[in-house]
Amino acid sequence: MYSPVYRLRRLRQNENFRRMIREAKLSVDDLIMPYFVVHGKGIRQEIPSMPGNFRLSIDELIKEVEDVKGLNIPAVLLFGIPETKDETGTYAYAEDGIIQQAVRAIKERVRDIIIITDVCLCEYTTHGHCGVIESGEVVNDSTLEILSLIALSHVKAGSDMVAPSDMMDGRVGAIRRALDENGYKNVPIMSYAAKYASAFYSPFREAAESTPAFGDRRSYQMDIANADEALREARLDIDEGADIIMIKPALSYLDVIYRVKNQFGYPVAAYNVSGEFAMIKSAASSGLIDEKKTVLEILTSIKRAGADVIITYFAKDVAEWIS
Ligand code: PBG
Repeated sequence: MYSPVYRLRRLRQNENFRRMIREAKLSVDDLIMPYFVVHGKGIRQEIPSMPGNFRLSIDELIKEVEDVKGLNIPAVLLFGIPETKDETGTYAYAEDGIIQQAVRAIKERVRDIIIITDVCLCEYTTHGHCGVIESGEVVNDSTLEILSLIALSHVKAGSDMVAPSDMMDGRVGAIRRALDENGYKNVPIMSYAAKYASAFYSPFREAAESTPAFGDRRSYQMDIANADEALREARLDIDEGADIIMIKPALSYLDVIYRVKNQFGYPVAAYNVSGEFAMIKSAASSGLIDEKKTVLEILTSIKRAGADVIITYFAKDVAEWIS
């Protein structure tokens, strides 16, 4: 009978051996929990396509952020849903805008948690695109000015890090300059560097009321087939001053996470998006998979691919499971 000299099963024989040689480890330190904020009071409206996630008014959001902090999760990511929208998304940089109010309120009440704010136009424009429209097209450079105003207004309200998700060319540089010129040299930018034109965002668009009224986002978000191009996106954002490079979605783009991490050695964030969340919830609720095991497997694979940070709607659950 053949007897192998090297047996990988030796180090798999019990949990102590397994944990001793385990490579990728999920940690609460790596998690970011996203939230959707609305105007009003006492609002906690569940998002049908994202069970367990809510549109929250600021008072309710504060309770959530306190919970997140209690779980030792280092950061939350905020998306605003405004009361009024217009063609150019002016409400996105209003001093009393929903994000600006939310950030100020959290800063007053909760100490020592990172507040990240998503910088984009799609929730604030009547047409639902991530930039300004001229002659039926999303125009790049005039959008940059608005994005800079939005980022600056978030930071003035107290945002600890801005995350531009619009995919215009040059937005990181434009935002960096606006922040620096106004004395915010130390506020980092987490850029959605490789954000794909993905089908996995639909639950989010329902939650944030940001579905484009016409066309789609393929003239600014990346083609799902491309990975070399993601390296160019990442390099540009790094050159323009980005501090954390984000890949989005996560699960279908593990190769991109791996390559970006290897090529640049920068902190990499992966966004485990709404559709990835909804798929697991749906399969688990029909008894097809074990939710906890599946979530831990997927998030561990995202770490194994090279992500340092994971933005996930499962952040609170995971923090409870692994602590
Ligand atoms: C806004 C934005 C989107 C997401 C994050 N920021 C939607 C989109 O680009 O249409 C998606 C997040 C998710 O699906 O969880 N630009």
